[in-house]
Amino acid sequence: MHNKRPIHTTLSTEAMRILERYEKELGTKNVVLERALMGMDKLRFKEKLDAQSISRIIKRVNTGIPLFDRNIEGGVPEGFIVVVTGQPGIGKTTFSLQFLLEGAKNNERCILFSFEEMAEQIIKQSIRFGWDIGEYMERGFLEVFGFSRFSTEEILEIISVFKPKRIAFDSLNIFSDANNFRRSTHWRNILKEIKEKKITCFAVTEKKGDPEKEEFDEFDFMADGVILFNKKYENEIDPHPTYYIHVKKMRLTRVNEIPHPFIFTDHGIELIGTICERKTADSSNGPTPVDRQNMDLSIDKQ
Ligand SMILES: Nc1ncnc2c1ncn2[C@@H]1O[C@H](COP(=O)(O)OP(=O)(O)OP(=O)(O)O)[C@@H](O)[C@H]1O
Ligand SMILES: [Mg+2]
Repeated sequence: MHNKRPIHTTLSTEAMRILERYEKELGTKNVVLERALMGMDKLRFKEKLDAQSISRIIKRVNTGIPLFDRNIEGGVPEGFIVVVTGQPGIGKTTFSLQFLLEGAKNNERCILFSFEEMAEQIIKQSIRFGWDIGEYMERGFLEVFGFSRFSTEEILEIISVFKPKRIAFDSLNIFSDANNFRRSTHWRNILKEIKEKKITCFAVTEKKGDPEKEEFDEFDFMADGVILFNKKYENEIDPHPTYYIHVKKMRLTRVNEIPHPFIFTDHGIELIGTICERKTADSSNGPTPVDRQNMDLSIDKQ
């Protein structure tokens, strides 16, 4: 038809579409239009990298736990896949439900794919925390698939029909083998859909073995973020462990790497104490009064 130079590869998909349409109509290559589009693309790129506009570009999604969100610059970046991991009974499902309910409260459609628990049990657990999960389900903002046995195609179909803004998978260990996970075409197809639709996703995974050793698996490397749940005993005779939530990784985000204690309340998970902000380059003039206050605060063990 007409000669195309590799220069096209630097154009965005949108610009390529415009160029191809005009070149088709004209029946020849149009260098002027191509240059103009490239210029526009460059401007777009520059705007994207501008530090001033970065907070506008990275939209943050609230988790439903305000103190936790403060720990990660206001929330999870939209469209992220975040692994929620830890030992059994540590709060992974509760945390994921809380995240979905926060979305439903904001009129976002949310889905929970639970691979091991019945929907009824999940609803009961929510009621115990005083969450009106039924109301959100009735209004069409929350869908819970208990004991899911869906194929990849079915999951993709549900996503395409329901159009969720948030999804939680509980847990990925049931869905896929951790060792072959990243190469699995099933998961890659789902991942592609989630990324393209900018769905924010919590993926629960299980940590086996000694929690002190903090061993990482394929799930952790795949994810944009990793939130580790853990518990520690003060000493050998301490009957009540302290539960901790620990952000091990959150791409595009400055994280406070200190494990933060939390408790289960009648309303779900709540972080206790305050956030000790991590020092940044712009705080080189020494800590502000707020920094000092945060650094001095000790955490009340409840
Ligand atoms: N209403 C409640 N009040 C206080 N704590 C509760 C309440 N309901 C559940 N819990 C605590 O929450 C913990 C279970 O949380 P959750 O089911 O979220 O854990 P999990 O990490 O998903 O567990 P699993 O690995 O078994 O799926 C239990 O240890 C339980 O003691
Ligand atoms: Mg669970």
